[in-house]
Amino acid sequence: MESNLNPATEARETPIAELRDASKHYGAVVAAQGLNLSIRRGEFLSFLGPSGCGKTTALRMLAGFESPTSGDVLLDGQRVNDVPPHQRPVNMVFQHYALFPHLTVAQNIAYGLRQRRPRPVEAEISRAVEQALETVRLPGFGPRRIWEMSGGQQQRVALARAIVNQPKILLLDEPMAALDKKLRRDMQIELQSLQRSLGITFILVTHDQEEALSMSDRICIMRGGRIVQVGSPRDLYDRPASRYVADFVGKSNFFPGQIASSAAGRTTLAAAGGLMIAGTAPVEIAAGRTATASLRPEQIALHRRAEGLPVTVVNRIFLGEHTEYLVRHTNLGEFLVLVSRQAEAAEGGFEPGDPAHASWPEGAALILADD
Ligand SMILES: Nc1ncnc2c1ncn2[C@@H]1O[C@H](COP(=O)(O)OP(=O)(O)O)[C@@H](O)[C@H]1O
Ligand SMILES: [Mg+2]
Repeated sequence: MESNLNPATEARETPIAELRDASKHYGAVVAAQGLNLSIRRGEFLSFLGPSGCGKTTALRMLAGFESPTSGDVLLDGQRVNDVPPHQRPVNMVFQHYALFPHLTVAQNIAYGLRQRRPRPVEAEISRAVEQALETVRLPGFGPRRIWEMSGGQQQRVALARAIVNQPKILLLDEPMAALDKKLRRDMQIELQSLQRSLGITFILVTHDQEEALSMSDRICIMRGGRIVQVGSPRDLYDRPASRYVADFVGKSNFFPGQIASSAAGRTTLAAAGGLMIAGTAPVEIAAGRTATASLRPEQIALHRRAEGLPVTVVNRIFLGEHTEYLVRHTNLGEFLVLVSRQAEAAEGGFEPGDPAHASWPEGAALILADD
């Protein structure tokens, strides 16, 4: 992509990719609506959301397989709405890797290079293919047939086929969806180290929150074709702007109610039975409105001394470093408490049926708008 800017200035300041009020409609179907997003050079960004929320559509607009119905797509500061995929400095890895089954691994990887005009010489192609195979830790696998490769290996061939083109951006659409859990975890670690060593921008689509949380510099949460929040994994976990985000990122307990008061950064929610829950509201909500208090299970302590809410232990699940308790409060109903091994050693364990008390530190509760 040509640019008139001084390369040094460009590298520092121009986002590598941008969506500006980008929408995509298919007849009456709104696949994406008013997307605004600025992607930084070299970052690992994930689109996260449930199936059908518009993640693939956003990615396809960046790749050039779809042009926006309205709004703009920019790559490296240039408007590319009408630039076809092969003329964009991006490569996409699909959910179903779409490798050519009748070609060898090397031929699959070399495919894009052979389409180039002028076509690189064979020695150069072989060198690039072997280097790509080394990058994805499949050295020497070039002569193999695709059907001789396992699922995880095919996934890496698909990656090699994309990185051999040295794209500025690698777009990955649920590339690990077809892999089993163990292999997925390995691939996630490999993808992350690959991104660091190549230094290129990765944009990943996933509906798996753990995957997004563990791999991304920033996560863009989508819902119903819209972006609802963008932030680092920690931002989204600690300061979700809505119940939807709190629910999507990590586990949380939700207590519905009505705003009783809101002043000086402190909001009080009247929950079931008039129980008052004080907390912080990331987005201010007016008194009288319905809202939800969100409390992460690990922020709640369970103890014998009569402090906090009286509860009854309903269930206990041993999780190694933690024990997950399901407890019941007369007004709030059932909620989860995650107790660390250390805390449990100090307090002693609880059995189903045991009475206990649950408390949490000042400010642990988030008061969120219903959406
Ligand atoms: N080519 C298309 N024609 C009609 N509707 C589409 C098309 N592509 C996507 N959609 C619809 O747009 C919405 C978003 O789809 P998509 O971006 O694939 O979601 P995701 O990747 O988050 O699962 C869905 O309702 C989907 O059915
Ligand atoms: Mg999709």
